[in-house]
Amino acid sequence: MKNKSAELDNERLEIKLLLEAIYLKYGFDFRDYSSAHTKRRLENRLGLSGLEHYGQMQHRLIHDEAFFNELLLDLSINVTEMFRDPWFYKKIREEVIPHLQTYPFIRAWHAGCSAGQEVYSMCIVLEEEGMKNRTQIYATDFNELILQKARSGIYPIDVIRDYTANYQQAGGKKSFSDYYSAHYDHVIINQELKDKVLFSSHNLVTDGVFGEMNIIFCRNVLIYFNKDLQNKVLKLFHDTLCPGGFLCLGSKESLKFTNLVDEYEVVAEREKIYRKKRRP
Ligand SMILES: C[S@@+](CC[C@H](N)C(=O)[O-])C[C@H]1O[C@@H](n2cnc3c(N)ncnc32)[C@H](O)[C@@H]1O
Repeated sequence: MKNKSAELDNERLEIKLLLEAIYLKYGFDFRDYSSAHTKRRLENRLGLSGLEHYGQMQHRLIHDEAFFNELLLDLSINVTEMFRDPWFYKKIREEVIPHLQTYPFIRAWHAGCSAGQEVYSMCIVLEEEGMKNRTQIYATDFNELILQKARSGIYPIDVIRDYTANYQQAGGKKSFSDYYSAHYDHVIINQELKDKVLFSSHNLVTDGVFGEMNIIFCRNVLIYFNKDLQNKVLKLFHDTLCPGGFLCLGSKESLKFTNLVDEYEVVAEREKIYRKKRRP
């Protein structure tokens, strides 16, 4: 009879092969995502699919692209909201905007923007602080389906009550309803808010530097990566940020214990806002 640890080793091997197959067949590289996260998501899909083991799953995803697309959604986790962690946006208004206002023009990058809520939240902040017309915003994600949602700026009406509360707690200066129009069961973000945003596909694991930025938002993405991959992506951000540029991470993420901790000043630890040091 096989012992438990041999079974576990086999399972680990099967998952490794499955991730390798995804990479070779579709070019999406999940090999350095956190193994606990990957295992949880794969286990869930295995249960739903009626397949018996990861070997079968590997065969299915190689031959069935629709199945792979479902798995891609599982692995990418698109949970987001407008003005998520309202205190973060408040801090941005208080501590970051005054610095950005000293530049004639700024470039901002939302990496892992999901369905666009974080991007439109920042557009509102920039608009209210008189900065929107001097900002170019790049918003990227590796998931084309979720980018289509982001471009449309269409959200279900039943989340608006929460978004409105977040907006107010984040120091919103107007009425949140000024920024969308309501249509039966959904709302559409106003076109003027979208004017300065370019949504495009970019994979943080396999794609390169993205131009020179004054501020980068990468919130609630690194949490799914292992330490090596976090360091690799943080290096990409460091190469992309201009000196004095800002890096904003998610509430459960931090620069502490990463290779680049000494390269940044902490602007706000709870809000995970950092500033790249100017080196002589
Ligand atoms: C949990 S959402 C975070 C959305 C938003 N930043 C926020 O904090 O509300 C994580 C997003 O990261 C994207 N993502 C995951 N891995 C990625 C990668 N390698 N390259 C680009 N985007 C990635 C996912 O598709 C997903 O939309």
